Amino acid sequence: MKGVILAAGKGTRLYPITRHIPKPLLPMANRLTMEYAFDQLKNCGIQDVCVVVGENEPTMRETLGDGSAFGLNLSFVRQTDPKGLAHAVGFAQDFVAGDDFVLYLGDSVYDRSLAPFVETFRQTGCVNLNLVKPVDDPRRFGVANVEGDRIVKLVEKPAEPESNLAMAGMYVFGPQLWEVLPDLTPSGRGEYEITDAIQMLIDRGNDVRAGVYEGAWFDTGTLSSFLETSRFLTQSGALVAADAKVDAELVGHVVVGAGARVAASRLEDCVILPGAHVDVAGSITGSILAGEVQSDSDLDGVIRWHEEAE
Ligand code: TTP
Repeated sequence: MKGVILAAGKGTRLYPITRHIPKPLLPMANRLTMEYAFDQLKNCGIQDVCVVVGENEPTMRETLGDGSAFGLNLSFVRQTDPKGLAHAVGFAQDFVAGDDFVLYLGDSVYDRSLAPFVETFRQTGCVNLNLVKPVDDPRRFGVANVEGDRIVKLVEKPAEPESNLAMAGMYVFGPQLWEVLPDLTPSGRGEYEITDAIQMLIDRGNDVRAGVYEGAWFDTGTLSSFLETSRFLTQSGALVAADAKVDAELVGHVVVGAGARVAASRLEDCVILPGAHVDVAGSITGSILAGEVQSDSDLDGVIRWHEEAE
């Protein structure tokens, strides 16, 4: 079993911070967001992982290296343009080389192990198992219609959902995926959709299954969801890196990364400073990730962003 992590997106919903730091490398509770993906794959017994990168390739390679710092063997392939998840995974075909593999979205965080789903994939001998999560409003998601454990149909953002099982960002595939990818065409929004590829597997009579996940699942791709995930993972109020210089009162959820300098400030719920690129003066209250400020925030102080770490 191998692992493929998709991390080639532009992260436009987190602009402009993602112009400086690729989304998978943003500090999530003072770890790289991507490290949560690494933890999950290792926990599934996976050692060989391919990261699909895009314009962020130089920073990703430099930061993640060969993976030994994270206990994995990492390789990288470059998606020419972010044209959808099914387009991105295609670049990993040579790496996967006929094996089974877990496909993981680089900005997803789960609080429970995904290893049981890999085990179910193995035991059932199905060609594809997809993580699904019961949600209150399935109309915002790709939705799986199921008969028992089998997925019989996938519907993207259905107006009248027939099930409450949302596709939840983790997939286990056998090599049959490579047979359908060449036949995919772009969807209405112009992307090669992984749900369309899975639907093709179903239409061609393959055994495609759903694995119901009941834990917490976060897509960290927006400022509010990023902050919510950070708050969930940090548990205690404040998390300050050992070498950060903080001369401030910290109230509520505050994360200060390695090398950050915070002077004469009160930082109050929910402030995340990624470290050596920022320094802060004055008092800040609100929902802030580095220089990104949500509209309900009270920013008396100043957050300065340095292109180079200081
Ligand atoms: P998205 O969050 O849908 O896209 P994005 O990361 O570009 O963010 P935004 O919508 O704010 O611009 O992508 C989910 C994951 O899949 C994310 O880790 C990036 C990855 N991805 C690719 O690797 N290639 C792609 O073509 C797309 C669309 C996403």
